Amino acid sequence: MPLKILVGTQWGDEGKGRIVDLLSAQSDIVARYNGGDNAGHTVTVGDHTFKLHLIPSGIIHPHTLGILGNGLVINPKSLITEMAMLRESGIEVSPDRLKISFAAHLITPGHITLDRAREAALGKGLIGTTGRGIGPAYTDKVSRKGLRLLDMLDLPLFEEKLHLHLQKVNYDLSFYYQMAPLPEDSIVDEYIEYARQLQEYIVDTGALLDIALHEGKLVLAEGAQGMLLDIDHGSYPFVTSSNVTATGVFNGLGIGICPVENVIGATKAFQSRVGAGPFPTELDGEMAERLRGTGAKPWDEFGTTTGRPRRVGWLDGVLLRYARRINGLTDLVLTKMDVLSGLAEIKVCTVYKDIHEETFAVPPLGITQLDQYKPVYETLPGWQEDLTGVRNWDDLPENARSYIRFVEQTSGVRVMLASVGPERSQVVEVPA
Ligand code: GDP
Ligand code: IMO
Ligand code: MG
Repeated sequence: MPLKILVGTQWGDEGKGRIVDLLSAQSDIVARYNGGDNAGHTVTVGDHTFKLHLIPSGIIHPHTLGILGNGLVINPKSLITEMAMLRESGIEVSPDRLKISFAAHLITPGHITLDRAREAALGKGLIGTTGRGIGPAYTDKVSRKGLRLLDMLDLPLFEEKLHLHLQKVNYDLSFYYQMAPLPEDSIVDEYIEYARQLQEYIVDTGALLDIALHEGKLVLAEGAQGMLLDIDHGSYPFVTSSNVTATGVFNGLGIGICPVENVIGATKAFQSRVGAGPFPTELDGEMAERLRGTGAKPWDEFGTTTGRPRRVGWLDGVLLRYARRINGLTDLVLTKMDVLSGLAEIKVCTVYKDIHEETFAVPPLGITQLDQYKPVYETLPGWQEDLTGVRNWDDLPENARSYIRFVEQTSGVRVMLASVGPERSQVVEVPA
């Protein structure tokens, strides 16, 4: 079947960008279906590293078509900046190579200011958002007063809608947060200019995908964030505001239910999280610093979008099992195996216990109340060898192979690939 789905199984930053880049070699179309420029997807090809926030990571392969589906919230300034960055690196970005859904929603400076004001007002209870206006833009969508890409096609009406939107934002800023108003006229002028630049990219991407799928074109859906941040199935309220999970693909791309070849879960070989919320296997002290790195290496655990240090911990097999169930995962790609080299022992959480010492393979009521569980670990022997040069399964140290097999056993999902470095070629195929 021509549709493949790639979804993050943790709290984001699993290495989705680099996996999408690999899978794009065999894809005709690569489509984002959720989120916005809160995402930060890194692709490294040779010496060149691309950090993409909105444009699908497949764009780096010249044969692919990139799609931004209706499920997205799009900051046009970020999008235009990203287009320019790619062009400077010699990547063609034209209406022939990138299509944007008319039904995707727009992010404005109003949404960004409200996002930050809401976070500041929450004080210690903050969610730790990326401050990109994601929550307020989706709030406007659901309350039926959002601005859509479609609005950019009728400039006089767009201008009117922008004024109304900004007046509402300014009222909220002053009433709820005692903040100064945003400059209406200059924002409207700026957005009219963005509309002029983006108009020729705006189409019915759902219709286009429907035709492509019927013609047998290979479509890869690129998830943003990780499923533990899903608005319905994540660690609510410490989540993002979109449907991250694989089932969100159909809605977020505007296609009917069709067979899916693989639902591939991007999984980091340990756990990380940026922003607030429960994290049962979180580590602190020396081991956390060891897994996070100091920031000296480009892949150290500091946010691609915000630069914030990520919280880190041991791989959580309970949450991986949960991710398998909610997404219908058929395969995993295990990333950052190289980072675990040099550890004497590696732990993996296999079950949780509550305060009554009752054991849970998966929490009974979703993952909101994770704070009440203690992780129970299996300790595996580590390996000392550097993995970054390994390309074949047989050349991996035995303990690294056993680690991969253990992840398969705990999660119930086969591992198809393991990555051993950020560069395109640093990958090992895992035999069944
Ligand atoms: P995404 O949001 O899921 O696309 O992940 P990010 O790009 O935010 O973060 C993943 C980071 O890990 C990036 O810096 C990648 O270049 C890097 N990375 C991906 N796979 C590997 C790997 O196997 N080993 C190492 N060392 N780094 C990796
Ligand atoms: P990629 O696609 C990691 C987190 C934020 C915060 C919560 C809500 O690179 O994996 P939001 O700005 O979406 O309202 O923030 O979600 N978050 C991410 N964490 N990777 C991401 O994207 C994220 N996108 C949002 O840190 O906890
Ligand atoms: Mg990221």
